[in-house]
Amino acid sequence: MNSTFPNGFLWGAATASHQVEGGNVNNDFWEMEHRPDTFFSEPSGDACDSWHRWEEDLDIVAGLGLNTYRFSLEWSRIEPEPGEVSRVALDHYRRMIAGCRERGLTPVVTLQHFTVPRWMTAAGGWAGPGSADRFARYCETVLPILAEGVHYVCTINEPNLAAMTAQLHLPCAEPPAFTGVMPAPHRPTVDALIAAHARAVDILRGSGIAAGWTIANQVVQASPGGEEAAAAWSHEREDVFLEAAKDDDFIGVQAYTRTVIGPDGPLPVPKSAEQTLTDWEYYPQALEQAVRHTWQTTGGTPILVTENGIATADDTRRIDYTRTALHGLRAAMDDGIDVRGYIHWSLLDNFEWVAGYKPTFGLVAVDRETFARTPKPSAQWLGALARAGHLAG
Ligand code: BGC
Repeated sequence: MNSTFPNGFLWGAATASHQVEGGNVNNDFWEMEHRPDTFFSEPSGDACDSWHRWEEDLDIVAGLGLNTYRFSLEWSRIEPEPGEVSRVALDHYRRMIAGCRERGLTPVVTLQHFTVPRWMTAAGGWAGPGSADRFARYCETVLPILAEGVHYVCTINEPNLAAMTAQLHLPCAEPPAFTGVMPAPHRPTVDALIAAHARAVDILRGSGIAAGWTIANQVVQASPGGEEAAAAWSHEREDVFLEAAKDDDFIGVQAYTRTVIGPDGPLPVPKSAEQTLTDWEYYPQALEQAVRHTWQTTGGTPILVTENGIATADDTRRIDYTRTALHGLRAAMDDGIDVRGYIHWSLLDNFEWVAGYKPTFGLVAVDRETFARTPKPSAQWLGALARAGHLAG
């Protein structure tokens, strides 16, 4: 079995602005977190205070031996009102990009990771009029700082998940209740996201930047009799977005677990299966299967694993999970699939959206009172692997 990864392979860890920065009061999630009938278990609050502690975060990534950091720009900070640009926010991210470079880290930058400015939601969200123009204006605004040394830019994170949750965000008189089961994608949002992505790809490419988007891969499997339902599920909730990436410079694969579909839809995780802190099945084979499915469906768009990880309080399970996932990734690469790198989710124990701070995906623990960072054994393990470029055991 080949356990060596190519020279130049990207090894990294990822975060997203709203999950780590803290104080992102001007976006739609902050608003949802504070509704009287909120379905969030707690608000994001100060998150990990990475808005102030980003240098420490970069030092940790580089010190571990990783060579890549994926992070996102917070649109609501950069453009607090339509067309009004915060120079302070732009400069903040400019310094982060330079900070990566100074430490020998390749920055992988996401332009939009779930959150949008409140004014965007008030205007109808992605499905509202002119959303592609609004996103294009934002891309043009950040282009100068990206052109200063960013190669990989992810336009929109998990548009498929955004399309499934779209109606929860809209300022309707009575937003639909969140039942825990993802609704089908909101069709006008799907079309709007694809249009916004295409505009952004054009803009980024014009400056020589490699552009792509990152997809929530669901590793759909059919139980006996569920074949038709599984094919439909996979198509509308994932493949439509993969197909839209056929001509992109890369695609971000984000895989955690699998979804087994019976004739009437997704089946619950069997009681006998190991479950993680997000109640997902422990299924590290998901990464290899997602990579193969993505490669096949896009017809060969180069792949960057932009997220893979596990919410667990037992760090030895994180190492086991990641080791198995990486063996699978290597096997897919042996079959000729072009994979450029592996970026683990997440660098830090951070704000896990609806579930708050309980599910811990981090390679690094964060004290909720002091924000002190403590790398876990899995962080050292992944860093050593990145240094060696070889997967032992
Ligand atoms: C998202 C992250 C999230 C992770 C684990 C992905 O859906 O991009 O923001 O924290 O999965 O749930």
